[in-house]
Amino acid sequence: SAAEKGGYDYFMLKEIAEQPKAVADTLLGRIDANGRLTLDEVRIPDAVLRETDKIVIVACGTAFHAGMIAKYAIEHWTRIPCEVELASEFRYRDPILNPRTLVVAISQSGETMDTLMALRHAREQGSKVLAICNTNGSTIPRESDAVLYTHAGPEVAVASTKAFLTQLVACYLVALYLGQVRGTKWGDEITSVIQELADISRQVDQVLETMEPVRELARSLKDKNTVLFLGRHVGYPVALEGALKLKELAYMHAEGFAAGELKHGPIALIEDDLPVVVVVPSPRGRSVLHDKIVSNIQEIRARGARTIVIAEEGDEAVVPYADHLIRIPATPVLLQPLVSTVPLQVFACELATARGNEVDQPRNLAKSVTVE
Ligand code: G6P
Repeated sequence: SAAEKGGYDYFMLKEIAEQPKAVADTLLGRIDANGRLTLDEVRIPDAVLRETDKIVIVACGTAFHAGMIAKYAIEHWTRIPCEVELASEFRYRDPILNPRTLVVAISQSGETMDTLMALRHAREQGSKVLAICNTNGSTIPRESDAVLYTHAGPEVAVASTKAFLTQLVACYLVALYLGQVRGTKWGDEITSVIQELADISRQVDQVLETMEPVRELARSLKDKNTVLFLGRHVGYPVALEGALKLKELAYMHAEGFAAGELKHGPIALIEDDLPVVVVVPSPRGRSVLHDKIVSNIQEIRARGARTIVIAEEGDEAVVPYADHLIRIPATPVLLQPLVSTVPLQVFACELATARGNEVDQPRNLAKSVTVE
């Protein structure tokens, strides 16, 4: 009913708008007065976490994209090798698992059969499983050794939005916590990132307030057949997520690519007026990547692409090559997906509406897939 949707036309719009609160709620009670993480729910003893020599993340769909981003954060802050795998592929290739492997299963619903079968397989091999889940008491957390709940609240729209942002928050918390428990040379950075996480909710809110040009752009592209998405580093999974949202909601052909791969194939797809969304890494920190992506934008624009550029405020280098420029607030490099994903959600939702599609219940899809 309209009341359930809180005055919004669709649950998806409501859930996009709820993201600042979802992010804040997921952090709530997990950072103590001294700015240290207290994840008591992670009932895996610190001694076990100190011995962990490999992390394997398993998930499906949007949760898999959260896992891809988590890999960058985990390896950087903990120096523990991390693999990310689609849950549906995992157990069938006889993966190498042992009691020193920590498996992280990410699932909004906690009922996805592919993910459940992956974690059962991992536990049979003696690995510890930590679930990141949004649904209290669901099967995946019940069958795991520990659970870190995301506090997004119920997500009704089939396409995941607020659950995704909270999965990212939970993944960052796990990465930072492991760094804190094990002690790494990034101690100072960990402390400052924990502080900056506390500010992310406000920044997501700021992005939401500036989305009208994105909606207008989406409407203008409603008769297009294809949209490409490019990203690099943590922006690569964001590009994949932007493309997934467009497939799910707008039923358009959409592909995400790692920007560095452009020259190895996808650049052949560029033709006149093809919309290409580019997620630009922060010019701070890893500025080499920033410069490389600016070259990519130049290259595709010279071949006729219509460039839709998502870049940090103050990033002036992109301005000459952006046909459309979407600004996001500056964040620590690894946290950028928390703000760069939001315009892509709004973009897909508005395009779907402009094409007359049912936003909350896309054709052929289910919110939770309980078959393998
Ligand atoms: C389904 C949904 C997706 C979701 C995926 C994983 O395919 O349509 O939106 O990302 O399942 O769901 P989970 O509940 O495990 O996060």
